[in-house]
Amino acid sequence: MRVLAIESSCDETAAAVVEDGRAALSSVVSSQVDLHARYGGVVPEVASRQHLRKIRPVIETALDEAGCTLDDIDAVAGTRGPGLAGALLVGYNAAKAIAFGRDLPFLGVNHLEGHVYANWLMEGPEPRFPALCLVVSGGHTDLVLMRGHGEYQRLGGTRDDAAGEAFDKVGRLLDLPFPGGPHVSKAAESGGPSSLALPRAWMHGTYDFSFSGLKTAVLHTVRSGAHDVPTIAWEFQEAVVDVLAGKTSRLSRELGAAEVLVAGGVAANNRLREELHARCPVPVRIPPPHYCTDNAAMIGAAAEFRLELGQRSPIDEDVFTTNDWDSPARFTPAAAGA
Ligand code: KG4
Ligand code: ZN
Repeated sequence: MRVLAIESSCDETAAAVVEDGRAALSSVVSSQVDLHARYGGVVPEVASRQHLRKIRPVIETALDEAGCTLDDIDAVAGTRGPGLAGALLVGYNAAKAIAFGRDLPFLGVNHLEGHVYANWLMEGPEPRFPALCLVVSGGHTDLVLMRGHGEYQRLGGTRDDAAGEAFDKVGRLLDLPFPGGPHVSKAAESGGPSSLALPRAWMHGTYDFSFSGLKTAVLHTVRSGAHDVPTIAWEFQEAVVDVLAGKTSRLSRELGAAEVLVAGGVAANNRLREELHARCPVPVRIPPPHYCTDNAAMIGAAAEFRLELGQRSPIDEDVFTTNDWDSPARFTPAAAGA
């Protein structure tokens, strides 16, 4: 089965052609990062309008690079949420329009489920269940037990800032370019251990996270002028990585998970990758960096197993902006649905 997948939940316009949920025949991502950099963050209306300009060329390029036309496509998938409503609407409606016009099966995909399924785009044996998923993006930080395809139980998550959000805010405090994550990580490469002791919120007895205290500690450190940017970036990154890797490894042991699957933009972070591999007692799978950050190939991979089950989304389905990991309720079996 060849799925045309479209993603526009935030500031990347993306389209991909994915074969059998495993092979990305193409994956095109048009980033708006330069457009938002001058504002220091994503401006929702600017994002939506840029998606409108880019969506058609991005889809056409994805088809071209896959060496196919719409005649070769068997189903269309689009990111339904969570994300910025105005941004989601552009890609989701484009996906619906193509499915409607070509009379193809249509499926709305949960963006975070999509991130997890980037782990199916890798070569070698497939992920095994039960899998513990660490989802670390700009908007979410969740620990989720995945018992099978589409079966999720959220065991913990952030009580305030998401990990990526903390990186981005600290980037701003350190006067680094947007988005903070990769730039903080780059600055940390020239840093190292110091006398600066930044706090780690362990949230004992839970699998929750909290990064707002750490962010405030960075603010006070910057104001004190006692440490340089590389040192603060290094200590901040170590504090985030320590808690993410520490809690993930402990939970994977307690659950007897077969594997740990890591997902989301922060999974592109090299120190996090190193520490998860070093500390987890079970195999750790992390997609290559270009499949950690937002892309449409992951949406096509996630769509595949639901389409195989005969699930479809109604063509009049709305987008959603918050996530509850309760995605099965949103699909109708093929027999009863659109
Ligand atoms: O998954 P993603 O591309 O978009 C969302 O769904 O949010 O994640 C974006 C987040 C941003 O906060 C960005 O700063 C962070 O991932 N990020 C990183 C790195 N690359 C991207 N954070 C730390 N280190 C990186 N190398
Ligand atoms: Zn994302």
